[in-house]
Amino acid sequence: MNRRQFCGGAAALGLGTATLTQAQSSLRPLPIPPLMDLRPGVDKRIPLVLAPGRHDFGTGTLSETFGIGAPYLGPVIRASSGQTLPFDVSNGIGEVTTLHWHGLHIPGDVDGGPHQEIEPGEMWSPDVPLAQRAATTWFHSHTHGRTARQTYKGLAGVLIVEDEDSRSADLPQTYGVDDFTLILQDRAFDGTGQLTYMLSAEVFEDGFEGETLTVNGTLAPVGRAVPRGLVRLRLLNACNARFLTLSMAAGPLHVIASDGGFLTRTVETETILMSPGERYEVLVDMGSTEENSLLVRFGADAGIMARLGGLFGGGGPMTALTLTRTAEAGTIATMPDRLAALDPPDPSAATVTRNFTLEMETGADLAALAMAWDNFCGDAGAMAINGMPMNMDRIDEEARLGDTEIWRISVDDMLHPFHIHGCSFRILTQNGGPPPAYAAGWKDMVHVEDGWSEVLVRFDHPAPAQAPYMYHCHILEHEDCGMMGQFTVS
Ligand code: C2O
Ligand code: CU
Ligand code: CU
Repeated sequence: MNRRQFCGGAAALGLGTATLTQAQSSLRPLPIPPLMDLRPGVDKRIPLVLAPGRHDFGTGTLSETFGIGAPYLGPVIRASSGQTLPFDVSNGIGEVTTLHWHGLHIPGDVDGGPHQEIEPGEMWSPDVPLAQRAATTWFHSHTHGRTARQTYKGLAGVLIVEDEDSRSADLPQTYGVDDFTLILQDRAFDGTGQLTYMLSAEVFEDGFEGETLTVNGTLAPVGRAVPRGLVRLRLLNACNARFLTLSMAAGPLHVIASDGGFLTRTVETETILMSPGERYEVLVDMGSTEENSLLVRFGADAGIMARLGGLFGGGGPMTALTLTRTAEAGTIATMPDRLAALDPPDPSAATVTRNFTLEMETGADLAALAMAWDNFCGDAGAMAINGMPMNMDRIDEEARLGDTEIWRISVDDMLHPFHIHGCSFRILTQNGGPPPAYAAGWKDMVHVEDGWSEVLVRFDHPAPAQAPYMYHCHILEHEDCGMMGQFTVS
């Protein structure tokens, strides 16, 4: 394989080549997704073109992929709370699709869930109103029975919502300079370097897992030279099924935001356990060190690592991204302390409590389903919530606009990430205990394993019966297999 230039030419960045070790010089440069900056305002509709692509992940082979205005993945869209974004989403992938805005507080009819199907060759034109705090959100295919395959092939991107507080905060916010979006994904490749996706009964159960870590569609590790000062990483776990354990090579992680926006203050933590669908923003102090790396370990615990250990040199953490400091001065030097005013969640405000039990087994034949996967899975009902596999024609729950509710989610087997559309919530309990400090702010994902988790949620936007919201496991194969339900808000 070719040795690649580190970050487009070390000399141009003021780095002596002597400061680069052999390992660093063969890092692939961190790809920066194209920025679609809508903050200056929009005076015409914004095209988002979903189409097949051919993309080299760094294996030396072009893979057959899907992308959104790009061969693989989509742009990073940046806009301000208060704006309405008039998207024209066109479907050029040759099969039915949808595009869901994960993490946006928007009405059901523009949510992009399985009811807003876009037929091949057609266009969907939602006006998406941004009415929430600054947050790093994302978008991905949410097609009935096909979410896992379409998202895996590349139908995903990031949408950054800003607001006055985020713009005036003393935080790095220069895109691609000190503010980076990292889309973390595990991917599988065959012997020729082609992206692959295979199903079997076991894959359904665990969800699809690749052995190779990619960052923004490129094999890890990637590298980037950055100015001296603070650097902000917006992290998205866009794996189909893998939990990721994040850490830094030197020092703790400094977490400033979770799915739904800023935490009250910077949280220092050695590790973050991140499920598919989750986002965290962290700061790295590149004023006090010349080099630091973001490390990623597949899985949640030692048990999983023991099982997978042989695949990557003893199962230690992998380097996702190495940051190297240039001589240039950055804009922000000091770690912030206070970030946002956030009251502690008040469960006494809840007027309704709902219970959800996630179920892996309904008696359906998983092996047969895996064989038939290309044609159909969505209504096959291999998995369920409260005994009922997802059914597009059944409304499972009806919530009242403006009510505060407690949702209690239980499982009795593996770790599942649970997601609710159209809102952000607060975690009251995660697996029977308080959430880690970095997950105590606004969230739209909660982990559930061996017991139950509880969230406090309020729905502020309508979702009628013909355009209901979803709640589901975000292991995409579980979702496609029926571990999903629908609710209205009115
Ligand atoms: Cu990230 Cu219902 O989806
Ligand atoms: Cu969602
Ligand atoms: Cu699950």
